[in-house]
Amino acid sequence: MKNTVVTFKEAKKKGEKLSMLTCYDYSTAKLVDEAGINSILVGDSLGNVMLGYENTLYVTMEDMIHHSAAVARGAKNALIVTDMPFMSYQTSVYDAVVNAGRLVKEGHAEAVKLEGGLEVCDKIKAIVQASIPVCAHIGLTPQSINAFGGFKVQGKGEAAAQKLLDEARAVEEAGAFAVVMECVPAALAKKITQTLSIPTIGIGAGKYCDGQVLVNQDMLAMFTDFKPKFVKHYANIGEIMKEAYRNYHKEINEGVFPAEEHTYKIDESIIEKLY
Ligand code: KIV
Repeated sequence: MKNTVVTFKEAKKKGEKLSMLTCYDYSTAKLVDEAGINSILVGDSLGNVMLGYENTLYVTMEDMIHHSAAVARGAKNALIVTDMPFMSYQTSVYDAVVNAGRLVKEGHAEAVKLEGGLEVCDKIKAIVQASIPVCAHIGLTPQSINAFGGFKVQGKGEAAAQKLLDEARAVEEAGAFAVVMECVPAALAKKITQTLSIPTIGIGAGKYCDGQVLVNQDMLAMFTDFKPKFVKHYANIGEIMKEAYRNYHKEINEGVFPAEEHTYKIDESIIEKLY
C-alpha cells in the first residue's frame, strides 16, 4: 500500500511505528520498497556515502535532484522524502519554496526535509502553503557542523533540552508533518514524542520515537569511514561485496570466468573461413 503523509498521521494516532531508510539509487530503492519500509529518505548524507565528501555542505540541488529522481523510479509504495541541501533554503523564504518545488518537479520527491528549528519556521510555513509536505530535522543537524564544532549529542543541559522541546513545538506549529531528531538523549526524545501530535523519527534518539531512520550504507556496513554509536549493522554487506570482488578478480586471472554458460556461440566453420 502507498505510504503518504496521511499514513504518517494515522500511524501516530494508532501508536504504530514508522520505518525510514536512506537511499540514493534505483536498484536499492526497489529493494527497500519491496521490503515494506514506510519511507525512503534521499538524504544529503549522499555527500558522505555516495560522493565521498567529509560532510554534507558540498551537496548541490543538482545532486539531490539526480538521486531523488532515480529513487522515485524504483520506489512504488514508500513515501519519498528528499533533503534540501545546504544553502538551498537558508537564504530566503523565496529560495526555499523555489528549491522545494524543484525537488518535487524534477526530483519527484513527495515531501522535503530541511534542518533547523525556530530559524526555519517561516520557510516551513511557506513550503507547506505551496502544498509540499515538510519533514523537519532538529537536534544534531549536520549542515550546521561548523557552527556546532563537531558531531555532538544535543539537548543535554536543562536550557538546551528546553530549547529542543521549544523547537519541536515550533516546527509542528509551522506545519511540518514529521520531525527527525538526531543525536538526542532518549528521555528527551520521549518527552518530545509525547508532546507532539506529529510523528518523531529518531536517529540516535532512542526507542521512544514514533519511527526510526538509518543511513542505508551504515546499516549494511558498507560505509566504514566512521561508525556512530547509534548505528546497528543488520548485515555485513560490505564484507560480502569485497569477497565477491576478490573472487571475480581471482577467476579472471585463473581463466575460470567467463565459463561456457556466459559465452555466445558461432559455427566454427565461419571462423575457419575468415582470413
Ligand atoms: O541526510 C541524511 O541521511 C539524514 C539522516 C541522517 C536523518 O538527514
